[in-house]
Amino acid sequence: MTHVPVLLKEVIKVLDPKPGEFFVDGTLGAGGHARAIIERTKGRGLFLGIDWDEKALEAFRPEVASRGNVILAHGNYAEIPELLKKLQTPKIDGLVLDLGLSSDQLESSGRGFSFMRNEPLDMRYNRNEEERPTAAQVVNSFSEEALTDIIFKYGEEKFARRIAKKIVERRRETRIMTTEELVRVIESAVPGRGKERIHPATRAFQALRIYVNGELQNLESILKSLPDVMEEGGRATVISFHSLEDRLVKNAFRELVLAKKADLINKKPISPGPPEIRGNPRSRSAKLRAIRFK
Ligand SMILES: C[S@@+](CC[C@H](N)C(=O)[O-])C[C@H]1O[C@@H](n2cnc3c(N)ncnc32)[C@H](O)[C@@H]1O
Repeated sequence: MTHVPVLLKEVIKVLDPKPGEFFVDGTLGAGGHARAIIERTKGRGLFLGIDWDEKALEAFRPEVASRGNVILAHGNYAEIPELLKKLQTPKIDGLVLDLGLSSDQLESSGRGFSFMRNEPLDMRYNRNEEERPTAAQVVNSFSEEALTDIIFKYGEEKFARRIAKKIVERRRETRIMTTEELVRVIESAVPGRGKERIHPATRAFQALRIYVNGELQNLESILKSLPDVMEEGGRATVISFHSLEDRLVKNAFRELVLAKKADLINKKPISPGPPEIRGNPRSRSAKLRAIRFK
């Protein structure tokens, strides 16, 4: 299946990559945005592609192996400032962040991101980080109160308390190690949800993924670092997929504008139109915001 990056045309329009510029894609994924940026800079300038998931980098590496001006790095985009220092290229002309998980991860990572597949409950983008608890560790060891907080805060799930209670009851009998087991527990906690547009496990799965990977903390951290890494005239764009992320981006950009450090490229966030949503349902909740530094 060809992977279609979300809001590709719009990303390229707001970033407006030119030959000789230095671009960073902090969420390389299948490389859709990266490919288009590299093409626009015509082999002149520098491109740094980062992903926390080594599998994504390995899949893209052969495509750019012969390009001396493309660097791929395994890591967290929150660490972009340190990475740039190491590369001795502290400032960049463009940054794209396409948040969350890729279709590949959802469909075939084997890490339990999707409630539609029966897989082990892991949910870490970066499996090499052993100190980071997996979703199974969270579900089987956190207190009922902590689980309620995570599911409510990161999933905006109104039945968070009931789901957490059922998880704790279930794990007294046996550890919950797979997505299928967790889905069954969630379904038993929220009966009568069959008529809703989304699956009853959607919000709780989102919450666990966000918690396990510290997604909002990563985003907050890079948003705070933007003035240190963006060149004068540099463009930064973020595509978010839920209101928790979008709120952080919106507020951070507003503060940068108030501090006269940047201007909004678009007053309102850009969303995909019906044809894109039809072709790529994952794009339906996407919102793109972009700023230009002064
Ligand atoms: C939505 S996909 C990106 C798709 C990509 N723009 C494309 O065109 O194919 C998000 C990617 O970001 C990665 N990711 C998530 N959090 C990250 C982080 N904190 N640092 C680096 N990569 C991260 C995921 O592993 C995933 O591959």
